[in-house]
This record gives sequence, C-alpha cells and structure tokens, in this order.
Amino acid sequence: MSTLLGRRVLLRPLMRNDFGEWREVRRRNRARLKAWEPQAVAGRPDSAEDPRAFADRCSARRRERQHGTGYGFGVFVNGCFRGEMNLSSIQRGPFQSCYVGYWIDEAVAGNGYTPEALVVAARFAFEELRLHRMQVAIVPRNSASLRVVEKLDLRYEGLAERYVEINGVWEDHHRFAMTEEEWRVRAPDLIAQWIAPLPDDRAERPVSELVPGRGDEPG
Ligand SMILES: CC(C)(COP(=O)(O)OP(=O)(O)OC[C@H]1O[C@@H](n2cnc3c(N)ncnc32)[C@H](O)[C@@H]1OP(=O)(O)O)[C@@H](O)C(=O)NCCC(=O)NCCS
Repeated sequence: MSTLLGRRVLLRPLMRNDFGEWREVRRRNRARLKAWEPQAVAGRPDSAEDPRAFADRCSARRRERQHGTGYGFGVFVNGCFRGEMNLSSIQRGPFQSCYVGYWIDEAVAGNGYTPEALVVAARFAFEELRLHRMQVAIVPRNSASLRVVEKLDLRYEGLAERYVEINGVWEDHHRFAMTEEEWRVRAPDLIAQWIAPLPDDRAERPVSELVPGRGDEPG
C-alpha cells in the first residue's frame, strides 16, 4: 500500500530523508499555508526547520498507519515533493470513516493535481481500507479548495459552525462527503477522468523512475 499512483501524481508516505525537499517547499509556502492550517503549538519544534522534528512527524505517521488510524501521503509530481494528502481520524466500528486534508505547493497550484490525488486517496480509502465514508471540511472563504470538491462533485452536507481551529480561530466549515455507495457508482467515471493512464502516458514508466529513493525504510 505504500505507493499509490494517479495519472500524474504519486502518493507515498514521507520518510526522514525527504527532509530537504520538505523544508524547501514548506518554507516557500509558509505564509500562504498558515492561513489554512491549525496554529503551531507554542514551543514545539518546527518540522520545516528541525530534521528531528520532521523525523518524529514521519514516525508518528508510521505509527498511525500501523494502528490503522491515519494514512498520510506526500504528493509527488515528476519525482518532486509537492504537497500532502492525508486521511486522518479513521474510525472503525459503526462509523468506518475518515477525514481528508490536503495542500499543494503554490508553484504547481492550478494544475488539478489535488483533485487527482483526492480521487487516488478515495480509491484507497474505499477499495483498500474498506471505509464507508470520507469527509472534507473547508473554510467558506477557501475558494480554491471549494473548487477541488466541486470538480469531483462531492456531496454537500452543510455548514458546521466553529468546527475546526484554523490559524487560532474556531472557523465554520462547509462539510462535503462521499460514501462507499456513491464511490461504487461514480468510481468508473472518476477514475477515467482523473487517474487512468492516457494512451501515451508517462505513468506507464516504472515507479522507480518517478520517485528516486522509493523503497527506503519509511520514517
Ligand atoms: C486548495 C488547494 C489544495 C488546491 O490544489 P490545486 O492542486 O491547485 O487544485 P486545482 O488545480 O484543482 O485548482 C483549484 C482552484 O484553485 C485556484 N487556482 C488556480 N491556480 C491557482 C494558483 N496558482 N494559486 C492558487 N490558486 C489557484 C483556481 O480557482 C482553481 O480552480 P480552476 O481550476 O477552476 O481554475 C491549494 O490551493 C492549496 O494548497 N491551498 C492552500 C491549502 C489549503 O487550502 N488546503 C485545503 C484546506 S481544506
């Protein structure tokens, strides 16, 4: 399960030796991402500046995978780290659900990489993890993210007031979801539109050509 392929994106868990690329991309996007992420915990080392903090983050994600509570993926395009797609807060029992969060490097925003990666993640969630429901929650003024769920026609479930702490504020969020029943009906079209290789697609090339270092021990 460690590598998932879309048409142009490759998703795999981040490893400690991704630190250099992680730092470069996170530094460049720091100010922009601050507006859409929970506030940094005071006193906690910054994973974009401290390799040990990044290694700890990778280890925490590996434990989540081992426990089945979360699956965090780096998003790679043309072999370069460009963002993240994270399935989190996985609940089993009667819920069988997960939340999805994502971000992409501003340098490659607007190319449809995130909706593509989201379809890859949905296929993984429904067909490999056998979850029943995935949810995306979006701050109403985040028009770029609202476009992502609009492109995939995720079902709107309403406004959750003061839902998640974003940059120090309890922000309202629009909630969007898909269930396994919907995935089953829509998967052929979503896969054909977003992730099936095109006839002369570079995704035909071996994965090892796309991401140097793949196969290293995670975390
Ligand atoms: C939301 C986000 C992940 C979208 O990723 P993406 O790969 O650019 O997605 P898309 O290519 O489908 O673009 C979505 C919309 O972003 C806007 N957009 C286009 N180019 C852009 C650019 N260079 N910079 C910012 N936004 C751009 C457009 O409105 C686009 O819709 P369109 O394709 O109909 O024009 C990305 O903007 C991002 O990382 N934002 C900051 C973090 C964030 O908001 N995360 C989600 C929290 S819910």
